[in-house]
Amino acid sequence: MSTHPKSERTKKENRIERLVAVSNRLPIAVQRKGGGWQVQAGSGGLITAITPVLKNRGGLWIGWSGTTEEVDWGEELNIASQKSGYRIHPVTLTPEELENFYFGFANEVIWPLFHDLTTRCNFNPKYWYFYLQVNDKYAETIGKYSLPSDYIWVQDYHLIAVAQMLRKRRIARRTGFFLHIPFPSPDVFMRLPWRAQLLRALLEYDLIGFQTVRDRRNFINCLQYIAPNLKTSGRGDVLTIQVDGRTVRVGAFPISIDYENFASTSAGSAVQTKLHWLRESMGGSQIVLGVDRLDYTKGLPERLKSFRLALERHPDLHRKLTLVQVLVPSRTDVPEYQQLKSEVERLVGEINGQFTYGGWAPVLYMFRNLGYEELLAYYRAAQIALVTPIKDGMNLVAKEYCACNLEEEGVLILSEFAGAAAQLQKNALLVNPHDIEGVADAIYRAFTMDPEEKKARMKRLRESIKKNNIFSWVDAYLAAAFSKKLDDFPTEEEYVPDIRLEREQDS
Ligand code: F6P
Repeated sequence: MSTHPKSERTKKENRIERLVAVSNRLPIAVQRKGGGWQVQAGSGGLITAITPVLKNRGGLWIGWSGTTEEVDWGEELNIASQKSGYRIHPVTLTPEELENFYFGFANEVIWPLFHDLTTRCNFNPKYWYFYLQVNDKYAETIGKYSLPSDYIWVQDYHLIAVAQMLRKRRIARRTGFFLHIPFPSPDVFMRLPWRAQLLRALLEYDLIGFQTVRDRRNFINCLQYIAPNLKTSGRGDVLTIQVDGRTVRVGAFPISIDYENFASTSAGSAVQTKLHWLRESMGGSQIVLGVDRLDYTKGLPERLKSFRLALERHPDLHRKLTLVQVLVPSRTDVPEYQQLKSEVERLVGEINGQFTYGGWAPVLYMFRNLGYEELLAYYRAAQIALVTPIKDGMNLVAKEYCACNLEEEGVLILSEFAGAAAQLQKNALLVNPHDIEGVADAIYRAFTMDPEEKKARMKRLRESIKKNNIFSWVDAYLAAAFSKKLDDFPTEEEYVPDIRLEREQDS
């Protein structure tokens, strides 16, 4: 029983006191090891972005455990929660749910459709019912582990229907949604068999956040097809829509990185040592760097073909420029991803076969997760970054590379179809990733760019990312949601857990 007098309690429940992040992946994932379980750090753009926001904030993160088995967590969850400074609560999916919700609806419907790759879509009706079922499972978990005074902040395309499910279950919470991937234009979106239901589900949130103004415009344009009577009003960053007597806000909030952390860690001695070794081992060749999750949205074959063309056209690049391509394994059980891996490896083999000379191979290829410091050493060592997705919500690699470019001598080549282009276009070399000749030219231009121009461009890139960092992103979002800033939320030390909730969690 609460010890607060009634009036005080009502006042307290009207206040937003804790952030509850909800996403498909947690910042940790478990894997079977021997007879037990091993807890590992989770990875992906969303985790990189949200982790510094919740860190030591006394909040809660709800997400999938990473397995379909019942996990005996023992003390592991408490240890992970203590280390991170927020509570972690896993949701378990059955094998059938994983198959139809994650591999099905998320990966075969929304992912390709929202990246404009409609021919890769599989609109299997069964997937939709599992999508709703799993979103409802998340809503049930939120109802159990959160309080009316919490702000439920749902992340990404896997969980669009969560607010709708909360409402169906009569779980009253303030809710916000953020889409990390692009939102397509009507001519693409309207192919979705569940287009009206998905838009309706989005409108159940109090605030819907997109990465760019273009994504927000696409969303509003799609709404106009489905519900022409809905009126959008306002100007600037956040618009409002009146839906069934409620106000829904819709904004563009470009996500970013913990700039200071990247910049200071890359200046530290651990990175410095690795950097020294890396430079030695390159034998005087410059590095053009690609770091991507292995995904068909990243434009990998096109990038390799562009690099090959640059080598064919400019022999002065031979032995002077090496493409270091890091591919982070992703969705490794999916045949399309296996085929992409084979295609990439075939192209790498062809290029190396064509140009390798003496001790120089033009492409150094890694298919693995790099450690944080190793990654930062590559960022620092690279004279050029090649970020050329066919389509991308934001692409944080572009921002991470600049944050780590302490000497301000690097050049960022950036796809015009990455969300990051909206912010970085003036000082990056903007390219169309489908234009093999254009990208090859950009590589050569970056290689031959005057040092002063490089410096001026990189300086401005870094200033802009430093200013628009992950904390200003979350502040902009929270200000739009309810005029709050991140610092208004209690830190881990200040947060007083609610006794009712603690009891519920323990039972
Ligand atoms: O880009 C958005 C994002 O959620 C990333 O965080 C993540 O890397 C990807 O989409 C989804 O990957 P996965 O299917 O491995 O969770």
